Amino acid sequence: MKHSLFIAFFLCLGSFASAQQLTSPDGNLSLEFMEQADGVPAYRLDYKGKPVLTSGRLGLLTEEADLTRGFKQTNLERTSVDNYWNPVWGEYNRVRNHYNEMTVTLEQPETGRILNIRFRLFNDGLGFRYELPLQRKMNYLTVKDEVTEFNLTGNHKAFCIPGDYDTNEFAYTTAPLSDIAVDMEKRIAKKSYESKAEGGLTVQTPLMMKSEDGIYLNIHEAALVDYAGMLLNVDDKQFKLSAHLTPDKLGKKGYLQLPVLSPWRTVIVSDDARDILASQLIYNLNEPCQYEDTSWIRPMKFVGVWWEMFTGEGKTWAYSDFYQAKPGITDYAKLKPNGHHPANTAHVKEYIDFAAENGFDAVLVEGWNEGWENGGGYLKERVFSFTKAYPDFDVEGLHRYASSKGVKIIMHHETYSTASDYERQLHDAFHFMVDNGYDAVKTGYVGRLIPRSEYHDSQWMVNHYLHVVKTAADYKIMVNSHEAVRPTGVYRTYPNWIAQESARGTEFESFNDGIRPDHTTILPFTRLMGGPMDYTPGIFEGDLSTYGSNKRKRSSTLVKQLALYVTIYSPIQMAADLIENYKRYPEPFQFIKDVAVDWDKTDILEAEPGDYITIARKAKGKNEWFVGAITDENARTATIPFDFLPDGKKYIATIYEDGKDADWEKNPQSYHIFKAVVTNKSVLKQKLARSGGAAISIVEATGEEGLRGLKKIK
Ligand code: NOJ
Ligand code: CA
Repeated sequence: MKHSLFIAFFLCLGSFASAQQLTSPDGNLSLEFMEQADGVPAYRLDYKGKPVLTSGRLGLLTEEADLTRGFKQTNLERTSVDNYWNPVWGEYNRVRNHYNEMTVTLEQPETGRILNIRFRLFNDGLGFRYELPLQRKMNYLTVKDEVTEFNLTGNHKAFCIPGDYDTNEFAYTTAPLSDIAVDMEKRIAKKSYESKAEGGLTVQTPLMMKSEDGIYLNIHEAALVDYAGMLLNVDDKQFKLSAHLTPDKLGKKGYLQLPVLSPWRTVIVSDDARDILASQLIYNLNEPCQYEDTSWIRPMKFVGVWWEMFTGEGKTWAYSDFYQAKPGITDYAKLKPNGHHPANTAHVKEYIDFAAENGFDAVLVEGWNEGWENGGGYLKERVFSFTKAYPDFDVEGLHRYASSKGVKIIMHHETYSTASDYERQLHDAFHFMVDNGYDAVKTGYVGRLIPRSEYHDSQWMVNHYLHVVKTAADYKIMVNSHEAVRPTGVYRTYPNWIAQESARGTEFESFNDGIRPDHTTILPFTRLMGGPMDYTPGIFEGDLSTYGSNKRKRSSTLVKQLALYVTIYSPIQMAADLIENYKRYPEPFQFIKDVAVDWDKTDILEAEPGDYITIARKAKGKNEWFVGAITDENARTATIPFDFLPDGKKYIATIYEDGKDADWEKNPQSYHIFKAVVTNKSVLKQKLARSGGAAISIVEATGEEGLRGLKKIK
């Protein structure tokens, strides 16, 4: 899979205190590594001859060793790499990994301790990490702080969420850095459970920013493995950011044993916002796939017993309303059914039929297992059983029924954050899945953690999520984790980690503060930089008062919901709405049935964080293309050039557009669908309503016959 086209290797013994330069292959980015007074390592970054990060410190402070000062550079190595790799699934079928690398070796003459810092400059950004090779003077380390600084050149506009150790399901703040604090406080006040980061002002990564002179900057991390998740401290007067590792509740920020490779710190830079979305830098900094056989890992579309628990009709995950029930103690067969438990055999069969009729691969079923009577379970142990179904859910019968229709059932493991309990049950749970024909699981970590010493993003939990994914691979099971630490491209290495939530998703359309119209124009620039999101789009009836609920309603037009299948990348996509709503709107539903979930190629046609995104993608191994265009609360005209199509042929585009009178607040369900002839010279000026969109599916024309009477787009 990997072809090393060109590897050059230079070795030079660096002279002390002199600055070392590294440039990106295209010369646009240049990095300088230097030692400040007292042997403090530091770096700066320029883009097209102008600074984007001014001199910032580097280093690691541990209880056993101070690795932030007193260094002398003793060695410097350079390498260049230009090769390609093929992801198991993704937005591209081939990814170029092209960078220049410089590794500086720093030694503390006083202690004899060694720290390497490896820098990689790609055309679209920088990655660097700390490396502690095996050495005599250090072995076990307890992290007090990582002192990595990202010193900005001004009061950039930021798209950010508040620093929190447990959750990332916030609405975004969009403001100059000097103004983010006030708005973020409001966001924090609205979350029901959270562990706000300690100390001063902090934000989460991926942090998206735009400078006054139009430079887009994205800061995140890659390959978060056996290390705590990183937040950023923000100095909103001098516009300096610094690493803030998630501690455990003992205040420790990580436990290391040499040799150590820290996660990569990533800074993606461009003067064109489209380059940020196209960047594969974070994946490139992850290790290649660790599995020999990946044939069992497959992108998919699914429906599920899910949204009806959110619409406000009183349906529950729990079979009974008895809140004292405990697995292993309570006799579930004797519990009194509450009569509004949708994960029952008959109802699941309806979903299986619907999936089979409409070409969906799978049905997710939530609320199938014992334990939900604990109604939140917060801080209680042994809440759920992952091997015992409720009396009204016939595991074997449903397996047979689904298999006969060529449909899979997706397992659900809500842990209520009892991660320790989940680890105890893990092998039994996966055996049970294999025995009953399941090959994918949605995991969940709602609430506060057990072990009680941990946060969702602390090192122990980072290791837990990966432990689950690797164990699942032994059983050929794919994992879609909710409420886990936000992703950092680790999917490249373990591609059965097929998606995550780890941000505010569709479920919030049923919660009080909802989803704002600009939310989905920000997510690809933030949360999705680290990997795909199980956003669960496709809500056609966003007005929950339809169900007698007084909850917050809708965030977009119906057509924008279609476009999200293209603009929010994920190899698994749910059609999240109720069957009845898809039956009400069979015409737009056709787009969800048709849209691909795995891609050969992606073209970002237009993008501005917080405002709009237009993306075209080619389905993997097929001559089919899909375009999605979305806008925020402002109506706009998208410009869609079809030059991503091969030259010299005619194509039929089916265009799903907002109706003339569509408006996300007043008339969200108004749509219009028409077919048109396009070539790769065509350019479409497409109107999008307020919080509206457009979705287009394109196939090659098979002859002149089918083109008659169709509008031609010039
Ligand atoms: C939160 C998840 O995000 C949601 O999808 C799930 O239905 C609930 N937890 C219950 O597990
Ligand atoms: Ca969630």
